[in-house]
Amino acid sequence: MALLELKNVTKRFGGLVAVNQVSLEIDKGEFVGIVGPNGSGKTTLFNVINGVFFPEEGTVTFEGRDITRLPPFKRAPLGIGRTFQIPRPFASATVRENIAVGAMFGTQGRSLNVDGSLQIADQIIERVDLTAHRDKPAGALTPVEKKLMEIARSLAMKPKLLLMDEAMAGMHPNDIDQMVSFIKRVAEEENIAIVAMVEHIMRAVVGLAEKVIVLHQGSKIVDAPTKEALEDPKVVEVYLGHAPED
Ligand SMILES: Nc1ncnc2c1ncn2[C@@H]1O[C@H](COP(=O)(O)OP(=O)(O)OP(=O)(O)O)[C@@H](O)[C@H]1O
Ligand SMILES: [Mg+2]
Repeated sequence: MALLELKNVTKRFGGLVAVNQVSLEIDKGEFVGIVGPNGSGKTTLFNVINGVFFPEEGTVTFEGRDITRLPPFKRAPLGIGRTFQIPRPFASATVRENIAVGAMFGTQGRSLNVDGSLQIADQIIERVDLTAHRDKPAGALTPVEKKLMEIARSLAMKPKLLLMDEAMAGMHPNDIDQMVSFIKRVAEEENIAIVAMVEHIMRAVVGLAEKVIVLHQGSKIVDAPTKEALEDPKVVEVYLGHAPED
């Protein structure tokens, strides 16, 4: 059984079809890259997976359970975590507190008190090397540090599936490489499936993903092992700005 399964999912905004009849499967512990030009439906797809939007058509199944109409706050404890395209930390709270909030809303949230959440935060802080910033207000971090904190916060949820929406955009290539190997290591150790949106950073996709899904105008046009996907003529065409033929 796949960890996550989408069947014929369609999400419209008025007359605009943002996600068009998309079906896909993500396995436990799998690394998947989502690729597609601006406006191709990547963020909308994530929002359908984590419950921000309900699709007009189709179903979303997580560990065999139909979650199509479950709100986000009920999906997070099941193990669906995400990072945001634009990090939204609680600016006046400390890095440690921000990460502890992740733990509280995650899979262990029910059994955690505040101290337990802070302990998990401390473990993750050490792992992502934010120790020097632990007690700073999150608002005082640099953009790269904020991305790192965002990733730490989502890992503190102990998710089974982590959706990463351009978590590395704007980072220096060296930082990206470091981040990629770090995320890969943690995901392997904890058997977390990662779906990462990294369209502007092909080198990160290649380093991260076992499989690549390509969206174009809301439709899935490619779903294949990374190397094969990136060599697919449809992908080249999409990135050159031509419509894919078929
Ligand atoms: N809340 C919304 N209301 C109306 N239209 C929306 C909304 N969110 C997205 N759209 C539209 O849906 C389409 C898909 O947008 P989406 O943000 O999912 O694309 P994306 O692939 O994430 O793009 P980007 O690479 O720019 O982040 C776009 O045409 C966008 O304008
Ligand atoms: Mg987006």
